[in-house]
Amino acid sequence: MMEIKTPVSATLSPEQISAIQDTVSRCKAVKGGLQPALHAVQGICGNWLPLEALRLISEGMDIPYAYLYGVMSFYTMFSPTPRGKYIIRMCESPPCHIQGADNLLEVLKGELGIKVGETTADGLFTLEQTACLGVCEVSPAMQINEVVHGRLTAERVKNILADYRAGKAPDFRQLPRTTNPLSDYPPSPDEVSLFQNVDQIDPMSLDAYLARGGYEALKKALDQTQVEVINVVKESGLRGRGGAGFPTGLKWSFTQPSPVTPKYIICNADEGEPGTIKDRYLMEGDPHRVLEGMAIGGYAVGASVGYIYCRGEYYLSMHRLQNAINAAVAKNLLGDNIMGTGFCFHIQIQTGGGSYVCGEETALIESIQGERGNPRVKPPFPGQVGVWYKPTIVNNVESWASVPSIIAQGADWYKAKGTEDSKGTKIFQLTGHVNTPGVVEANMGLPLSTLIDQIGGGCRQGKQIKAVQPGGAACGFITPEHLNTPLEYAAMSKVGGAVGSGTMLVMDDTVCVIDVVKCLLSFFQHESCGFCLPCRRGTRVLYELICKVAAGKATQADLDRMLTLSKTMVDSANCALGWSPYSFLKTTMERFKDEYDAHLAGSCPLGVCKAEEPSH
Ligand SMILES: Cc1cc2nc3c(=O)[nH]c(=O)nc-3n(C[C@H](O)[C@H](O)[C@H](O)COP(=O)(O)O)c2cc1C
Ligand code: SF4
Ligand code: FES
Repeated sequence: MMEIKTPVSATLSPEQISAIQDTVSRCKAVKGGLQPALHAVQGICGNWLPLEALRLISEGMDIPYAYLYGVMSFYTMFSPTPRGKYIIRMCESPPCHIQGADNLLEVLKGELGIKVGETTADGLFTLEQTACLGVCEVSPAMQINEVVHGRLTAERVKNILADYRAGKAPDFRQLPRTTNPLSDYPPSPDEVSLFQNVDQIDPMSLDAYLARGGYEALKKALDQTQVEVINVVKESGLRGRGGAGFPTGLKWSFTQPSPVTPKYIICNADEGEPGTIKDRYLMEGDPHRVLEGMAIGGYAVGASVGYIYCRGEYYLSMHRLQNAINAAVAKNLLGDNIMGTGFCFHIQIQTGGGSYVCGEETALIESIQGERGNPRVKPPFPGQVGVWYKPTIVNNVESWASVPSIIAQGADWYKAKGTEDSKGTKIFQLTGHVNTPGVVEANMGLPLSTLIDQIGGGCRQGKQIKAVQPGGAACGFITPEHLNTPLEYAAMSKVGGAVGSGTMLVMDDTVCVIDVVKCLLSFFQHESCGFCLPCRRGTRVLYELICKVAAGKATQADLDRMLTLSKTMVDSANCALGWSPYSFLKTTMERFKDEYDAHLAGSCPLGVCKAEEPSH
């Protein structure tokens, strides 16, 4: 649920007013320019949007103030109240939560002498809590302006603050490039396609990408008909890697024949699912692969514009993608009349504003159009009515990045990997209590136990695994008896889990399942966009009830109500966010009944849960 903040007045300097006016007139000329204007003006005003700046945007863009407020207040990255020079965003999502994020927040509060949402008296720091920052391999983590700081301990937090106080803030562009803690795996080079360049070439160099066969797949696609290209992707068996697993070629084949023009394609780089970090590795480590996949898709469906909707916290990804776009345009690999073929394809980056639901494809489309990110009622689906109400293909970053190798090496090469049910390779992410968290590309069908034990080095400090939440925050919990399940769509769903985005949250026996469920429900009630009643009210009621369970004050009737309510949300909520709590409530209540019962009897067996009022 969003907070209602009253905008604060400030005196803007003549330089600031003129910079705002310039920005506003530039953004007014661009379709969907409101969010870019809000981001840019917030930068001009020093991390927040004073009332006077909001009025200048409203007047300059001819947008009613109430409408502007509606959009601005939807996105957590915008603030109409003053913030400090440095905004500290401490992650509170499960992978960080189970690794001590709460204690570190207390350290931050103590060191800064402020509460969450406040700014230090010297105007240097504002403290915020946030959902997953997309760096869970280094949990617990926080972000200070553009820079992520991971593997936090109390001492590290203090040292980092001291550096910022001493004026030693790092430049995010100068940070070491992506390193993958699991890069020793897999043993067979045949399994690597998505990651073949990650950590191997300079992601800022187009020449390095070209030297490894880059853009050859685009050349090959442009020699084929649109239908031929789509058929290769269809035959490969590639299924969307954003979570739902919809067949990619089939999706394209619905849109390609439509006579409605123009058509668009979108790369969904919102990556807000807690525990999901793979798209960042691709964008930071091999940005041209994503662009090449998009250009092939644009050609196949007949689109000449592609958007990359990237989550606002991924500064380095956007920096490298923009550099790659500029270089590809300069070499005529993107832009007008690509390689003399007559095909034109332009790619534009749109920055998200800190809203998880904007990863849902229709919410994302609304957001690109400069609106609040409320998911649309479906059907119609984006393939028929998408951005600017035109046919639009939305695919995840990893789906786009899979396309160049499929075109270059053929459908047979791709579908020979993986299993009958799930073809190809996939990026899996291990987070939580494993010795080596991180990302790895492997064939679909890899047993989960191999991922955890052989690749991730097993449960940390020799402890026992208590539960795994595979697929993402919306998925069910599985237990040690399910660890031999192959990571493929059907098998995972049979045991009550999911492949989802490919993230696997491993929890050892120090974790209280009720506490993790509370953390998940806090996330969903916060991220509900409020558009439909079952989710707007339902996520809040579920969160209040789990707080009652955690406090040892609930009854069996409360648990029954949680299940009934979450099932009603599956049947009646407008989008999959509202359907999410049911799976993890059902599986945890079935599989961790003793733990729920102990809380009903008044105590948390592990002493983790505290009796506290529901927050935000
Ligand atoms: C609440 C919510 C958040 C989502 N977030 C993402 C996301 O961050 N990235 C993504 O690719 N898909 C996300 N999705 C799924 C998209 O709606 C869509 O199915 C996907 O982008 C399609 O691409 P694919 O077919 O390549 O997977 C989300 C869905 C929901 C309901
Ligand atoms: S289910 Fe939740 S997030 Fe989805 S439209 Fe309804 S209120 Fe918004
Ligand atoms: S960075 Fe904290 S959960 Fe992902």
